[in-house]
Parts: sequence; C-alpha cells; structure tokens
Amino acid sequence: MKPKIVLAYSGGLDTSILVRILSTDYNYDVVCCHVDVGEARDPEYIATRARKAGAVAVEIVSAQEEFAKDFCFPALQANALYENIYPLSAALSRPLISKHLVQAARKHGASAVAHGSTGKGNDQVRFDLATKGLAPDLKIVAPQRERNITRDEAIEYAAKHGIEVPTTKKSPYSVDENIWGRSIEGGVLEDPNQVPPEDAFAWTKSWQDAPNEPGIVKIGFEAGLPVSLDGKALSPAALIKQLSALAGLHGVGRIDLMENRFVGIKSRENYECPAAVTLITAHKDLERFTTLGMSHKVKATLDQKYAELIYEGFWFSPYRAALQAFNDEHNKFVTGEVTVRLFKGACQVIGRTSPFGIYNLAMSTYGVDDKFDHRAAEGFIKLVGLQLYEYSRLHGGAVDTTTEKA
Ligand code: ARG
Repeated sequence: MKPKIVLAYSGGLDTSILVRILSTDYNYDVVCCHVDVGEARDPEYIATRARKAGAVAVEIVSAQEEFAKDFCFPALQANALYENIYPLSAALSRPLISKHLVQAARKHGASAVAHGSTGKGNDQVRFDLATKGLAPDLKIVAPQRERNITRDEAIEYAAKHGIEVPTTKKSPYSVDENIWGRSIEGGVLEDPNQVPPEDAFAWTKSWQDAPNEPGIVKIGFEAGLPVSLDGKALSPAALIKQLSALAGLHGVGRIDLMENRFVGIKSRENYECPAAVTLITAHKDLERFTTLGMSHKVKATLDQKYAELIYEGFWFSPYRAALQAFNDEHNKFVTGEVTVRLFKGACQVIGRTSPFGIYNLAMSTYGVDDKFDHRAAEGFIKLVGLQLYEYSRLHGGAVDTTTEKA
C-alpha cells in the first residue's frame, strides 16, 4: 500500500497535475483537500475534477465563517496592514488552509501534506510554517518548488495524461481571492509604472463609475469585533461580504503596492480589499475613542508586528498568541457604532458612538459648560518640565539650535 499525502487543491490546472505527479513520481495516494474561503468556485465541480485527476479521496471544507471569525477578525482587532497598506487577505488564508490539511491528514492517516506554491512567493513559507507549527511530524512536499513547472509544461503534461484543463478562460493575471480580499499580480502589472487596467478589478468600481452619491454605513462593534451593519446583526462572513459589496460599489479598497516579500523579492502587487479597508478604518477609530492613549500608542507598534507575523507565516506560534492576548484585553470595551462615508474610492469615518467613549464634554468643551480645572495645569507643567528647567539653569539658558550663530 502507498503512503498517503493530502494536497491543498484549488481545482485549477497546476494543482490538478500535482495529483498525478504526486502519485506517479512521488509514489503517494493523493487525498485532495479544498478549503472554501470565498473564492467563488463550485465545490461539486472541484470534487469531480479532483477525482478525475486521480485523487483517492476528496475533502471539501466550507470554511468561510471560520475564516472570518478566527482569522480575519483577530487581524482586524490588530488593524493588520502589512507595510501599513495591505490587509493580508491571501496571507491570512494560508494558516487556515494548513489547519484543514493537517486535519485531513489525521483523518486519512496521511504522513505528508503537499501544496502548489512556487519557491518565489510568501505562500510557501506560510504553508510550511503553519503546517510545522501544528504538526511537526508531517512531511511537506512542494513539487512546484522543486521542479519549477512552467504553464506550457503543465498544459502539455495535462494533455499527455488525460487531465482535463479547466474550461474557464485563463485570466491575464495571477489572482488569489477570499472574502477578505483579492490579490492581482502578473501580466502588464509587472511594469510598476503601468496604471492598472480596469480588467484587473472584479470587486471594486473605478472612482469614475462609482455612484455620485456617497454610501453611508453604520458599523456596530462589540469588544472590537464587528457585529452589525446599520443595526442589523450579521454573522462574521455575511457582514464581510455585505460590506464588501457596498464599499466595492463605491470604489473603496483598491491598493497598489510595491511590496517587500519575505523571500527578498520586491514585487508590484494590486489588491481589492473593500471590506477589510472599511472595517480597519472604522475599528481604528473606535479604539481611539474608547481606549487609553498610552496603550493605544503601544498597540500601534504591536499592530505592525502582528501584521508582519501574519505576512511571514507565524500565525500558529506563541508569538501571535501573546499579542492576541494583549489585543483581546485592549479591545474589551471597543464597543459602539462607527459611521463611515464611502465615496468615489474614499472611506472616511464621520461619526462614532459608544457607551465607553473616554470623552467627557465637560473636560473638552471650549463652551460655557467647561468644568476643566485650568489651574491644575500649572502644577502639571512644573513637574513635567522639572529636568529641563534644571538643565537650562545649569547651562545658562535656552538650548536653541534655531538661533543663528554669530
Ligand atoms: N503578495 C501577496 C502576499 O504575499 C499576495 C499573494 C497571492 N498569492 C498567490 N498565490 N497569487 O500575501
């Protein structure tokens, strides 16, 4: 009997030929595992294709809600934007897929898992590290990384072995999508100065085609997690999808980034992440409103670290668990509603309410109801400036580098 391997299967040409390669060249019985994170593919069709390609078993996992709740939302609590720009949509799906590969491996008694990543991207790192983090005993096989099979070779191989090539028209771009966002690479976009053509986008309108009236939406949060849109409670995945449609209609979430890959390459990446961009904008605002300034500042630094660890594949690590503990505590009272205006590609917060807003009108007002003790400020400044005062006294006056030297 052959040993078993679980392959992360997308239903496309590349992973279909991998089924055959893994069974003939690597001598495995191949179990295909497809994890649905919202890439709008037909699971039935995928299962049929996997069997036709030679899989001994197929696992189709509906994971949209799990992805939203356990991956996108913690990333949202961390306001996770890689290099302050990219909401990590592709990066977040890899540990989830790996988790299901490991589960399928246990179920089928497999000794290895396989994925179709090349040696040039971040995804291989994420699949490998997530798998190792969860199941150090499983072997990882990545034939594409070992062999660098070109598209022409793949088509030739498929024809030779009677593997059906997908009937869908091949996009001129390399696209990865899930409910948190859509990444678009390759083709003409490889020229960093090429304005992204409209055919690169599927979820967002251009600002020209977006409605001339803004869209206004109220996003409800509880403990830093979105729970409702305009007062209507929604499940995590449903909320993301509904908001994605609305923000996308208004052209929100297009991103063009010269990105630093973990593997060293600088690449030009385009994204459409309408829901992620809107939710992060709203969440950041509500955090500002409801948390202490000092912890807010620490968190801004940790948020960048959190984004990096997602990008670099360390989701299943004690590092993420520790940062998550901080975020959960910090978000305990990040509850309320944020009003966002979506208009011609822009996403702006225009109002917020919360039972826990650390805002006291009697303290902040410039009006007649001012209850702030102005005289207390004098003592405060005295203490804050104590050392500066001593220094200035010792050195005979001001430290003024803006004065012209005589
Ligand atoms: N550059 C992005 C990232 O590393 C997008 C990757 C998309 N993956 C893909 N196989 N097309 O997260």
